[in-house]
Amino acid sequence: MRALTWHGKKDVRVETVEDPAIVNPRDVILKITSTAICGSDLHLYDGMIPSMQAGDILGHEFMGEVVETGKSVTGLRKGERVVVPFVIACGACYHCSRLQYSACDNSNPPDKADISETLYGHQMSGLFGYSHMTGGYAGGQAEYVRVPFADVGPIAVPDDLEDDEVLFLSDILPTGWMAAENCEIEEGDTVAVWGCGPVGLFAIQSALMMGAARVIAIDHYPRRLELAAGLGAQTIDYTTASVLEALLEMTGGIGPDAVIDAVGMESHGFFVDNVYDRAKQALMLETDRPHVLREALMACRKGGRVSIPGVYGGLIDKFPLGALMQKGLTVKTGQTHVQRYLPLLLEMIREKRIDTTFLISHRLPLESAAEGYRMFAEQQNETTKVILKPGWEQVQ
Ligand SMILES: NC(=O)c1ccc[n+]([C@@H]2O[C@H](COP(=O)([O-])OP(=O)(O)OC[C@H]3O[C@@H](n4cnc5c(N)ncnc54)[C@H](O)[C@@H]3O)[C@@H](O)[C@H]2O)c1
Ligand SMILES: [Zn+2]
Ligand SMILES: [Zn+2]
Repeated sequence: MRALTWHGKKDVRVETVEDPAIVNPRDVILKITSTAICGSDLHLYDGMIPSMQAGDILGHEFMGEVVETGKSVTGLRKGERVVVPFVIACGACYHCSRLQYSACDNSNPPDKADISETLYGHQMSGLFGYSHMTGGYAGGQAEYVRVPFADVGPIAVPDDLEDDEVLFLSDILPTGWMAAENCEIEEGDTVAVWGCGPVGLFAIQSALMMGAARVIAIDHYPRRLELAAGLGAQTIDYTTASVLEALLEMTGGIGPDAVIDAVGMESHGFFVDNVYDRAKQALMLETDRPHVLREALMACRKGGRVSIPGVYGGLIDKFPLGALMQKGLTVKTGQTHVQRYLPLLLEMIREKRIDTTFLISHRLPLESAAEGYRMFAEQQNETTKVILKPGWEQVQ
């Protein structure tokens, strides 16, 4: 089959690789109909995530048709159309039984799990197409993919919904939702969101649905800020205003009740601390560039809530722990427990209460995936979300 493979920093290629096969009785094989490139894929593309190997198949946002089922899969039939969560979870361990699917103890094989155990104190769950630290599973930017624990993850979607309407259930829609939920929004709240990429935009949409009186969105790309404004957010362009001053001014000197870091480890901008982080990263003395996290902690009102959907990988410097402690802030974060939110969010899409299609800027054949990565990484203003279509011969 054809698949997008990783070969190093900014080097991804569509190649012919071996077809996946059923390994365990709970596996299914999917024929991919749509798959997307995520901001998290950019961390792989930029060489920020350890334990990648040349030839790894990327992609953790995908959906498709079941073409083969393992012998203990009962809930899914051949021919069924499903969306697959990017988190692989067994459904039965200590964490899964508490609906903390991204903390699953059984989906990261023992020979891989020790990498994250050393880094984080505990092993991470398996994730599709996201390094050997999270299981080394082949991803879904391909014609076919093997889905383990298929009786727990994939959700069948009704025929009357197009791929574009449901694909983002695999990751960014529940991620934006959980980011807002982690803000524990109360009526009248002001929520500030850093980053108007797909995660930030869905977090804005979710925060407003959960009753935030006001959402303030921060980014520097005019097109992305425009999309945020279209959802009902007020906006700050950090290249033309001091974010901290603007937020104080907009909240009568109090600060936002909750803040969301939807940027993560690769903050942009020529801020003193960001330049410092870049230099330390180059010397391998720091792994992440947490400018946004520092700014969000400083901006949040006393007693406020901090939600961090943005991905961080390792160790950071100059973390304002004093601000966190002295202001009595609450922090919630994590890889999204996707499975937990699927039934609710699918229902909301069906009822047309949530639209996800406004985000899509490009639809490309899988064969153009390398170009899709380049555009999503280098032309972020125009490229808000790229969908790859394995079945397509050319751009439509
Ligand atoms: N927790 C999860 O389960 C989960 C799931 C999906 C994605 N993510 C993470 O969420 C983050 C966002 O993903 P995305 O797909 O929206 O990515 P993206 O790269 O499309 O968007 C990031 C946005 O942040 C903006 N930004 C950069 N520096 C900024 C700054 N200093 N101030 C304000 N905005 C700034 C960029 O301009 C860009 O628009 C990534 O770190 C991704 O890995 C986490
Ligand atoms: Zn993703
Ligand atoms: Zn589990």
